[in-house]
Amino acid sequence: MRIRTFNEYQEAYKHSVEDPESFWAEIAQEFQWRKPWTKTLQWNFDEPNVKWFTGGKLNITENCLDRHLLTQGDQPAIIWEPNDPNEASITLTYRMLHDQVCRFANVLKRNGVVKGDRVCIYMPMVPELAIAVLACARIGAVHSVVFGGFSAQSIADRINDAQCKVVVTADGAYRGNKEIPLKSTVDDALIGCPSVRKVIVLTRTRTPVSMLKGRDIWWEQELKQVTADCPAEEMDAEDMLFILYTSGSTGKPKGVVHTCGGYMVYAAYTFQNVFQYEPGDIHFCTADIGWITGHSYIVYGPLACGATSIIFEGTPTYPDYGRFWDITDKHKVNILYTAPTAIRSLMGFGLDKVENHDLSSLRVLGSVGEPINEEAWHWYDDHIGKNRCPIVDTWWQTETGGILISPLASITKTKPTYATLPLPGIQPILVDENGKEIEGNGVSGNLCMKFPWPGILRTTYGDHERCRQTYFATYPGLYFTGDGCLRDEDGYYRITGRVDDVLNVSGHRIGTAEVENAINMHTGVVESAVVGYPHDIKGQGIYAYVITDQQPSDHDADLTKRDILATVTRVIGPIAKPDKIQFVTGLPKTRSGKIMRRILRKIAEGDTSNLGDTTTLLDPAVVDEIKEGAL
Ligand code: PRX
Repeated sequence: MRIRTFNEYQEAYKHSVEDPESFWAEIAQEFQWRKPWTKTLQWNFDEPNVKWFTGGKLNITENCLDRHLLTQGDQPAIIWEPNDPNEASITLTYRMLHDQVCRFANVLKRNGVVKGDRVCIYMPMVPELAIAVLACARIGAVHSVVFGGFSAQSIADRINDAQCKVVVTADGAYRGNKEIPLKSTVDDALIGCPSVRKVIVLTRTRTPVSMLKGRDIWWEQELKQVTADCPAEEMDAEDMLFILYTSGSTGKPKGVVHTCGGYMVYAAYTFQNVFQYEPGDIHFCTADIGWITGHSYIVYGPLACGATSIIFEGTPTYPDYGRFWDITDKHKVNILYTAPTAIRSLMGFGLDKVENHDLSSLRVLGSVGEPINEEAWHWYDDHIGKNRCPIVDTWWQTETGGILISPLASITKTKPTYATLPLPGIQPILVDENGKEIEGNGVSGNLCMKFPWPGILRTTYGDHERCRQTYFATYPGLYFTGDGCLRDEDGYYRITGRVDDVLNVSGHRIGTAEVENAINMHTGVVESAVVGYPHDIKGQGIYAYVITDQQPSDHDADLTKRDILATVTRVIGPIAKPDKIQFVTGLPKTRSGKIMRRILRKIAEGDTSNLGDTTTLLDPAVVDEIKEGAL
């Protein structure tokens, strides 16, 4: 499955388009299957219905763990770097990880978890998070990891949507100089979650917690009751592996569903080829396992390839802004995969903390989550890669399971701000608003895919129609990504950002409707409209226009703003807090009552010169008022 030259890339690409089934079958054969599949691919994008490796039986943990034991059981699978650099880091070899995954899988079983049950995981970035994820996969339970920064309400919504039976959490989490109480947040969430029978709590911070009799149990106590003998459950290639919630243009996050066989093949194939992974490489992906990047490129992709993956508990700026470089130096990192927002924030601190570390182990640099601007790209290239490490700007989504458009490190000629070319198996197409294909080069349009790849989402949990509506109905016969895209004269792709009502704040996907719903829950708020605006570090900032029932005085306005921020934090989590709140008496609406976000976006961007046609507005005067009060 390994591509080593640009020629090989071109050949692989050609093969993947001309005969996708034999292309992917050859790759899938490199994994360990209990029973071979009978049909490589069945698909239509109308229902949609996509099935890869039908009839094939496997367990992803046998591929990520067991099959490495003979050849590399004593090599590190996970290196854990704690939040506090003075605490010792931990190395888990493949054998140790296998042992711990089996033990925790037995804990889950002991607590009534069976194949197909959903398990919510709300944990800090500790090795036990990866262990819990893999333990679920071991016994065929479906994991739903919820990022540790989400609120009780967000956890409850996700637990209820998936009807989770068990929650795995910790007493608390360390993040920078903060201690975050995870268990008490789970307690708040569970007030409204009747499906949950058990909560398994790991000790991390020793924050006092209340343990509910009959429901709450300690991870450490449970481990004493089990052995390390846990044969893997036999799974169908199309059995569910996990659910991961992500935001869209409606208020309610969707549970994106990935299945065992296709996801495994795709995560591993892309890991190997995009980063040009070599045996023994130390791979450091700075994402949180609560996001898809962590699922595919901290846990499943690297482990399926037998790599060593770093799990970092802390933040890039604690105890100082040299932490990434410190970790790179300390663990001799070969592949560093991070987000433009982190690069932009570290750029601002100058070079002293870069220059006092040895970064010579680095071979490949990666970028993910949002468009990388030219300045950040060059800083990364000059100061971190010292102009000798290729930068892979990887474009993909929660729904795609793995990277779709990206250079292959050292193989594809890079171009700053371009994700460059589609990986083998990926058939991008640009369309106009009417779904008509825009052919040729030097063009831009809405980015779609016309053919499935093994990692594509199969459904949105509990609501297949929503999956169809969101991704497959806008342009019949195509998977619509929601992104705008440019294809330049060389046929290189550059992602220009979302074309729907989804924001990308510090690489996190947030729906404007979600933030509006949260703001509107505040007493006193009548209506709100949220848009994004360019933000130097976050990429996009959140700008909220808010109508209150009484026009607040200056003093009250400050208080109300703080209350609104507290409301958003409570309803969603701190990542969704607006950066700017402007109180207005009206919003620009058409006669049919639709908010004209285009106008609000322009004002938020500080560009009030050309607001376009405002004659269709119900009350054009509100635009002047909003312009005057713009922040
Ligand atoms: O807009 C694109 C942006 O992030 C969106 C997907 O977000 P999420 O599902 O949270 O997954 C993020 C990590 C894969 C996309 O629709 N995006 C992601 N990577 C890039 C990007 N935009 C530009 N360049 C990228 N490399």
